[in-house]
This record gives sequence, structure tokens and C-alpha cells, in this order.
Amino acid sequence: MRTLKAEIAMPVSPIVITIDGPSASGKSTNARRVARALGYVYVDTGAMYRTLAWHCLRTGVDVHDPKSVAAACRHWSARLVCADGDPRQVRLLVGAYWPEKEIRSAETSAAVPHVAAVPAVRRWMKRAQRACLRFGNLVMEGRDIGTNIFPESEFKFFLDASLGERSRRRAADGVEDDLAARDARDSQRAAAPLMIPLGARIINNSSQTPEQTSRLILNDIRRRLRQRTARAPRED
Ligand code: DC
Repeated sequence: MRTLKAEIAMPVSPIVITIDGPSASGKSTNARRVARALGYVYVDTGAMYRTLAWHCLRTGVDVHDPKSVAAACRHWSARLVCADGDPRQVRLLVGAYWPEKEIRSAETSAAVPHVAAVPAVRRWMKRAQRACLRFGNLVMEGRDIGTNIFPESEFKFFLDASLGERSRRRAADGVEDDLAARDARDSQRAAAPLMIPLGARIINNSSQTPEQTSRLILNDIRRRLRQRTARAPRED
């Protein structure tokens, strides 16, 4: 039987942890670790932009032509699903296909900044990323999550590391990437450039292990969740 207490209880909205930062700043590793530790759903928004870039290349859309990219984004049949795993994670399917490997190719990496700079694409992504709330509590990583997608989040982090350290990490992964050029494109584009979100905790992890960085993030979240619980009005 429903009690009066249940009826007057405020609806509980999902918690969103936002993790932004430049390429190779440790976002993916730490976002996954944090999602796993908390049992939240992991969302890699870079993978979503990469999926559209891959789709454009595959279907012969000129990624240097913003109008064609915007049209491709309006018409593609893309669908978000939440896949089981540890952590559970959001996948963007094209048709029924998940291009897991293809979106990491050098060709896709070169195309993705052009696609990500198109305002209509960013609007589509914003709608899709906010719709991930239906999957529950989220750890979402990207470039504009705390500034533009979930600016209302109470739990914002900005990861950074020196250019030398980030280049070393990329090389260790066997990926050739001109990080200085990528940083410049991500920070200087007109639509939702990479910026430190207001209220974000900044963590420079140049000389930290992933264990240390994710522990810092988790301790911070848990402390604030405890404070939140202590502030909440008691029900009895
Ligand atoms: O994190 P990544 O390297 O997979 O991101 C791929 C590209 O997408 C990169 O050029 C930055 C861009 N991106 C973005 O503009 N906004 C996001 N929220 C995530 C990624």
C-alpha cells in the first residue's frame, strides 16, 4: 500500500559525475574506474562523436563540409543502448551495429574534430547525452560535459596533465597523435570549446597513477554524497 510519505517524497533524479579534460588526460581510465566503483553507468561521449565521423567516412560524406555533416546527423539511424558489463556502459549503435574498433582508426581520429565542430551535431549530441539519464546514475566523460551538457551537476571534475606526459601516454598506447594540434582545435572551436567548468575540481595527474587519481575522485564524491545525505530532511 502506498504511504503518504511515499506520495509526498521528492522525485529522486539520477546523479551525474562529469569528467572533462584534454586528450590523454586520463579521462577514460578514471571515468571507467569511478563508474565501476560506484556501480554507475559509464558514458564515453568522444566515442559518440567518433561514431558519427566513422559513419560520414563510410557513407562518403565530406567531413570538411559542415552542411553535409549536419544533414548526415539529421538522417542517420543511431540508437543509444545500455550494455551490461563492469561498468555498464552506453553504446551508440548505427543500425544495429556497434563500430567499437573502427572508431579508433587513424582515419576516424583525423575526421572527428571536423565533425565535432558542427553546431547541429553538438545539438544532436546534447539531446542524446542528456537522454542517457534514463539509464540511471552516470559517469560521463568528454570536453563539454560540465560546461554544456550537465552544467547543473554537483560533481564536476577536470583532469589535466602536461603535454609531455600526455604525448608519452599516447605513444605508449601505440597511437600517433599530434596532441598540441588537437588541443588547439578542441579549445579554439566556436561551438562548445574545451573549458574548465565552473565549480569543477581540477586534478593535474601528470605524476599520479590511475589508482591515485581515481581514489581522489572517489573520496571527493563519497564525502559530498555523505554531506548531501546529512543535509536531506529526515523522513520520520
Ligand atoms: O576523447 P576522444 O579523443 O575520443 O574525442 C574525440 C573527439 O571528439 C575529439 O576531437 C574531441 C571531440 N569531443 C568533443 O568535442 N566533445 C566531447 N564531449 C567529446 C569529444
